[in-house]
Amino acid sequence: MATSNTDQFADDYVRIFDTTLRDGEQSPGCTMNVEEKVAIARQLDRLNVDIIEAGFAASSPGDFESVRRVAEAVTNPTVLSLSRTRDEDVDAALKAIDGARKPGIHIFIATSDIHLKYKLNMTREDVLDAATWAVTRAKKHLDYIEFSCEDASRSDWDYMAKICNEVIRAGARIINLPDTTGHAIPEEFGRMFAYMREHVEGADKVIWSAHCHNDLGLGVANSLAAIRNGARQVECTINGIGERAGNTAMEEVVMALKTRKDLMAVRCGIETRQIYPASRLLAQIIGQPVPPNKPIVGDNAFAHEAGIHQDGVLKNKLTYEIMKPEDIGIPSNKLVLGKHSGRHAFINRLTELGVDPASFDVQKAFAAFKDLCDKKKIVYDDDILALVNEETRRADDQFELVDLVVTSSSRATPRAEVTMRVAGEERNADATGDGMVDACYKAIYKIAGLTPVLERYSVKAITGGTDALGEVSCLMRADGMTVAGQGAHSDIVMASALALVNALNRLKTRGERTGRRPVEGP
Ligand code: KIV
Ligand code: ZN
Repeated sequence: MATSNTDQFADDYVRIFDTTLRDGEQSPGCTMNVEEKVAIARQLDRLNVDIIEAGFAASSPGDFESVRRVAEAVTNPTVLSLSRTRDEDVDAALKAIDGARKPGIHIFIATSDIHLKYKLNMTREDVLDAATWAVTRAKKHLDYIEFSCEDASRSDWDYMAKICNEVIRAGARIINLPDTTGHAIPEEFGRMFAYMREHVEGADKVIWSAHCHNDLGLGVANSLAAIRNGARQVECTINGIGERAGNTAMEEVVMALKTRKDLMAVRCGIETRQIYPASRLLAQIIGQPVPPNKPIVGDNAFAHEAGIHQDGVLKNKLTYEIMKPEDIGIPSNKLVLGKHSGRHAFINRLTELGVDPASFDVQKAFAAFKDLCDKKKIVYDDDILALVNEETRRADDQFELVDLVVTSSSRATPRAEVTMRVAGEERNADATGDGMVDACYKAIYKIAGLTPVLERYSVKAITGGTDALGEVSCLMRADGMTVAGQGAHSDIVMASALALVNALNRLKTRGERTGRRPVEGP
């Protein structure tokens, strides 16, 4: 059930601000296309997050379009665009969020002396003026303004208090104090919130927000320390993705609040049963598998291996389990459908897994599911999620794999013939290689006119058995950009080709955003 606006301003309510689509997406290998971002945004809506930071509208036409589409796609959350303290940024942000039911803007500027001197080349007075100017400018158009003091944890507290005074006077409603470099430790980070709340005029009229990075592995601990010192908003990402070591993981902070209510008398509005589907959806989309020991959502998070633990859990789960897997939405039975399952059952199962049937071509995905049933006796949840993600991935692609013929034997050099559609036009190439995947990649490079560096390549059987759907993830680097690609198919050479084509499409998208041109094409 959606949280009402009144709830969001209650003293004991912690607002969950999701930045998977902005801070998360900007980390290496996490690029998403517009359709993928919309799919994630819809899932964030089902999770009932309070705020979605959809992107940084001024950074590129692609980012602008993503913010605009997300703003229109979701119903309950407030949708924000990030903005520097510049005219063109504020304009782009306001325009991109115009279609949102609840629009907002997130203005930031660095406040630490290190950033002022080496990055901005500005004085403290300049920064104060720029911050006040930008908030005043945005306030003429909308009420919902968040202001961030970038690198707050390394800023002078009294100077920061002065800036906060001014931006609150200019109309900021939320003040965010980020630990941009992941440098803080919980006690000092908590003290910073207490200090600011005590020394800023009008501190009680705004919501204080924490935004933490995980460089020392303290993102969640620092966020909780901020809450204990009055913060009522936490900025986080699904699976903790983000710059360098990542951001505060949403699932961890939310479950810590729920599980340790005895220590923290606060609540949040997250629909926790949507956590696991959100985690899997993101992992599939960006091709970064969740580590097995990842708290809350990792495969081992609820697995008890030691005999003594198993014995305890069998007698009473409370012995070793502090949370219930079903509260996080972990399916108790991952065995789902088979050859005889109909379209209705297929759609139902996807809805249970948190996938909105409106977000992909059901007809095509169902046909692919039937194909898979012919090849595989048992089809699991993760198999059908992979199929649907293949569909979403392809929605606005420039490169499409049409046909692949690979020949190999123990006596002959492997050879691949590839046909691809590049912006609607069919192109062919063939190549030989050290193995079937190598031959296939060389043929695809010829068509795309590019030789990227393959930094990582991995194959995983999504589910068990020799007939399992294989999932290939690759990390490619070209022209200073790193992107991930994924492909799922019951044939791993085919899955490898799909992964590479997916990476090329992402390189293309990223190239367009940044003005670089690493791949040929339209
Ligand atoms: O880490 C950071 O400081 C940020 C700001 C832009 C909020 O991401
Ligand atoms: Zn950040």
